[in-house]
Amino acid sequence: SPTHHTKMEKQIKAHCLVLPYPAQGHINPMIQFSKLLEHQGVKITLITTRSYSKNLLKVPPSIALETISDGYDQGGLTEAGSYKAYLERFNQVGAETLTELLEKLEHVDCLIYDAFFPWALDVAKRLGIVAASYLTQNMAVNNIYYHVHLGKLRAPLTDHETSLPMLPTLQHEDMPSFFFTYAEDPTLFDFVVGQFSNIHKADWILCNTFYDLDKEIINLFMEIWPKFRSIGPNIPSMLLDKRFEGDQDYEVTQFKSDKCMEWLDCKPKGSVVYVSFGSLATFDEKQMEEVAFCLRENSSYFLWVVRASEENKLPKNFEKISEKGLIVTWCSQPKVLAHKAIGCFVTHCGWNSTLETLCLGVPTIAIPCWSDQSTNAKLMKDVWKIGIKAPFDDNKIVQQKVLKHCIEEVMESERGKKMKNNALQWKTLAGKAISDGGRKEAGSVNTYLDRFGQVG
Ligand code: UDX
Repeated sequence: SPTHHTKMEKQIKAHCLVLPYPAQGHINPMIQFSKLLEHQGVKITLITTRSYSKNLLKVPPSIALETISDGYDQGGLTEAGSYKAYLERFNQVGAETLTELLEKLEHVDCLIYDAFFPWALDVAKRLGIVAASYLTQNMAVNNIYYHVHLGKLRAPLTDHETSLPMLPTLQHEDMPSFFFTYAEDPTLFDFVVGQFSNIHKADWILCNTFYDLDKEIINLFMEIWPKFRSIGPNIPSMLLDKRFEGDQDYEVTQFKSDKCMEWLDCKPKGSVVYVSFGSLATFDEKQMEEVAFCLRENSSYFLWVVRASEENKLPKNFEKISEKGLIVTWCSQPKVLAHKAIGCFVTHCGWNSTLETLCLGVPTIAIPCWSDQSTNAKLMKDVWKIGIKAPFDDNKIVQQKVLKHCIEEVMESERGKKMKNNALQWKTLAGKAISDGGRKEAGSVNTYLDRFGQVG
């Protein structure tokens, strides 16, 4: 409990710089992890790009903020025009400006860098700084990309099925999307596989998962890299273990948070379908229309996050506030998922959304869009058994009727109740993984943090 932590223990033990890829799905979990480290007495400085810093509204007040350059200080990726241009320049300018920053700052003991930036590890090693690689994606996906790195799997895929150690057999529809865009543009595929190019040189390798969720792959990775640790789930303490007194939900986002908690407070337990496709995924108008009409016709209440940039794809005159539903441009998702009114989550299966829903006990309907999301959806459905995947038609659209049927299945059927129960069991295990009195096995967060705090 927080009262156990005396002033002595709170004294600064080390100064860590934390460098996430500049996107919500990377900054959020790394901030949550930073809060854990701070709790152990580590001082944190968050690094973002000059272009993204304009969107960062708030970080916890105890966390310092510094910037580096991605080479496009005005508009980041948008200014670059393509991932190819963006990432090429970022590699070079990022390494230069990170070096400058590290030379400028005094007493840096450790750099925790997003595994998406292997160049940051090279910089840290050059300057003799301890470096921890933070894998922001799911273990199964890391396992897939690692096997590509080893030369045991290739893009484009030739076989219909992929069999890898510690994973269920994966069909094409379960594989990360970059396998299929490779022939046209290998940039993103090479980028995600590049995470493993020099990772063996890292002093620590961290992944946002917990032991009970990914036991076998964690054991495998710990054999390959003795310094591998599962340090999740990195979700806000106020929702799980309440270990930080007065923990708040920091809106580290460029999106405006709408007030939807009051709306949820008036709804019966388990009656609301929560729909959100994360911070990046975009749907075409046809898919938006199918979702919109399904939600309107369906009998349940709904809360739907449609980002401002996507709003023009809503059907004309579609009501944003009605008896049945509420559309917001952004919400505090973990808080929403923790609300008793939520009955199920229609999700794109970004890794953070997946982990949040598992840890907060909410069953799901998966509509994966790209990147790692199809693989997360497969695990959700067949391994963790907390939801179903909405079937696509031949045009890769989930039709209104199909989605309606999925929602009814999860919210009303016996099978749906089992999924809910499974989700609640994961919630219990997630709580155990991070609780002070929790398990102390080699891969657990506490054993690791106790030692990490001593880094300095
Ligand atoms: C991206 C990738 O798409 C994802 O697949 C990868 O695993 C991580 O990076 P994103 O698409 O934004 O992330 O999805 P996700 O990983 O789910 O992260 C979104 C984050 O934004 C979550 O922490 C979620 O709680 C938060 N969020 C989302 C909000 O706080 N409010 C919202 O309204 C929507």
